Amino acid sequence: MSRVAYVNGRYLPHSKAHVHIDDRAHNFADGVYEVILIVGGRMVDEEGHMVRLARSLRELDMVPPMSDRALLNVMYQTVARNRVQEGLVYLQINRGTSPRNHVYDNDKLIPTVVCTAKTVALPSDPENVAGVKVITRPDNRWERVDIKTVSLLPNAMAKTAAMREGAYEAWFVDKDGFVTECTSSNAWIIDQEGRLVTRPLAGLDILPGITRDRVIKLARENDIEVVERAFSVEEALGAREAFLTSTTSFVKPITQIDDSVIGNGHPGTTTRTLLAAYLEFAQNIALENAA
Ligand SMILES: Cc1ncc(COP(=O)(O)O)c(C=O)c1O
Repeated sequence: MSRVAYVNGRYLPHSKAHVHIDDRAHNFADGVYEVILIVGGRMVDEEGHMVRLARSLRELDMVPPMSDRALLNVMYQTVARNRVQEGLVYLQINRGTSPRNHVYDNDKLIPTVVCTAKTVALPSDPENVAGVKVITRPDNRWERVDIKTVSLLPNAMAKTAAMREGAYEAWFVDKDGFVTECTSSNAWIIDQEGRLVTRPLAGLDILPGITRDRVIKLARENDIEVVERAFSVEEALGAREAFLTSTTSFVKPITQIDDSVIGNGHPGTTTRTLLAAYLEFAQNIALENAA
């Protein structure tokens, strides 16, 4: 079955889905996006994603193109037309199309809305999930990385560097040696006392990951202590476990940072517990829907 994409009110074959060369996302990366996990044909943490999307639009002085209900309808239509049961839906909203000029006038622009969906398999056996390597890179992004914009060049370059070094992800590190987050996921360690440690949101120097938020809740439900504070690369190298979280990677154990092995070199028990809890949470959404 060929893929279908939504572009500005039309559902089109993927190969025929285009935006204009004067779209402001093309010229200025002037757009925001969300990626949402689909399980059993339903969105996981739908509300959290919609709240973050609204905030991204607000922070960038963009006008929502339609109501949340209409946006959800576009996303569910795209999911259904691509027959996605387990996978991802991608929504991008750009400020609109106008002759290239840095200055924008929201009153004269009609936002561009694009939506795609694809099938992706969930990990079938959380107990036996493989660990991955991450590399470290200076965090050279702008100061509003808390906004989910399509302006992702430093992320793309650092992740490509990771791939070239045989790693799965890159950890961004601030000028004081503390890890901010990864190029497309949030970073975590488990300290020697078994506490989960992840950078707080207050500094606006990480993206408020929806998976991050969910994992904090699941950890607390599982009586695992969570501490939101910055940690250094040095501390991470001596951590009991390390992992990353995102909509596309779920909870992914990290067993190597640069050239150093973490813990005993195998995915840790707490990380595996959290992955299992996250997958169970996601599956329950599908079951609730089926009931
Ligand atoms: C920079 C960055 N941090 C964290 C995340 C994880 O966010 P979420 O859990 O909402 O997918 C992402 C996701 O794309 C990201 O791009």
